[in-house]
Amino acid sequence: MTTTPPGPAAPAAASVLVDRIGTLVTNDPALGTGPLGEITDAALVAEGGRVAWAGPRAQAPAADTRVDAAGRCVVPGFVDSHSHIVFAGDRSREFEARMSGRPYEAGGIRTTVAAVRAADDTALAATAAGLLREARAQGTTTLEVKSGYGLSVADEERCLRVAASLTEETTFLGAHVVPPEYAEDPAGYVDLVTGPMLAACAPHARWIDVFCERGAFDADQARAVLRAGRERGLGLRVHGNQLGPGPGVRVAVEEGAASVDHCTHLTREDVAALADAAAGGPGTVATLLPGVDFSTRQPYPDARALLDAGAVVALAGDCNPGTCFSTSMAFCVALAVREMRMTPAEALWAATAGGARALRRTDVGHLGVGARADLVLLAAPNPVYLAYRPGVPLVAAVWKDGERVAG
Ligand code: NIG
Ligand code: FE
Repeated sequence: MTTTPPGPAAPAAASVLVDRIGTLVTNDPALGTGPLGEITDAALVAEGGRVAWAGPRAQAPAADTRVDAAGRCVVPGFVDSHSHIVFAGDRSREFEARMSGRPYEAGGIRTTVAAVRAADDTALAATAAGLLREARAQGTTTLEVKSGYGLSVADEERCLRVAASLTEETTFLGAHVVPPEYAEDPAGYVDLVTGPMLAACAPHARWIDVFCERGAFDADQARAVLRAGRERGLGLRVHGNQLGPGPGVRVAVEEGAASVDHCTHLTREDVAALADAAAGGPGTVATLLPGVDFSTRQPYPDARALLDAGAVVALAGDCNPGTCFSTSMAFCVALAVREMRMTPAEALWAATAGGARALRRTDVGHLGVGARADLVLLAAPNPVYLAYRPGVPLVAAVWKDGERVAG
């Protein structure tokens, strides 16, 4: 499945020349040098919302308008393939307690479920839209958004309606945890998720996801959820191996999920399964969420083992009120480089092209001709600065579908 989902933003009509780019990261090795396809002293032309031309500036064609990058770096917009920005309530005190030694438990999700059920649609939409704007201003041009804090038919459906008003990358996560009213009947809850809840939510979703972890859903329950979603035409995603070793990766690979997210606790067999998956067909991407490991004081995933084995690695933000309340993909890149021993190039690729692979998109995550003109101008001469200057707001301007949306 390699698709361009419907519903793009209205493309910009006039052509724009972004000129005097110090380093242009295309993620297309055919266009430039190194794994990121870098072109120095470059230019890029966007037209009709797409990249019409990219190359050395001496050869740049004319365009209707010109933007002077003044020697700075342009990279593809971040593709953040994992977020839970439709929520209500505040869990800062839970974070504070965790920093004093209390371990993270999936049960904290129920705190947010209670707040979402009490919140009206306007409040949910305002919070989510604000976080989307915040992410965009930091260079995220594609953002996946999950439900998962409603956990009733009506609440999951309204969370997905909010998500669908913000992005085409919507994910139904009714199987996040078992809500309190089903505590004595988890099998009944799986029946609800795979039956009436899925029927109500599938029209608003592109993906289905399940949290396959102790305290959430076991392997058999996860397979039941994924298979029901597939029958409804949804693509598959899995939260797995976050809190300890478990069956999440195996289930994701065997069911043909596009991505298994977290991957903090992997066995050698898990790594091998993800590498094999990458070798044949579209495969299951290992999406790493270092902001979660940072905010929950977990170890970081072994990105080197995954990369060295040949697995496809993505980096995503996982913005949510419990395990990572950040919308900064640059922060994830910096963590991946410092804490997970990814090279700056590997980390940037994973946060852009890797995210696109995790969403099975070919139109984002790179700046080859025909790609969406989703680009980020950095206040930096090259992409290494994303990790070299952590915590510094380096995003000078953002274009989505050729339209300037920030900066
Ligand atoms: O991706 N792992 C499960 N779900 C979220 C956490 C949600 C929460 O604690 O509210 C995650 O980390
Ligand atoms: Fe998550």
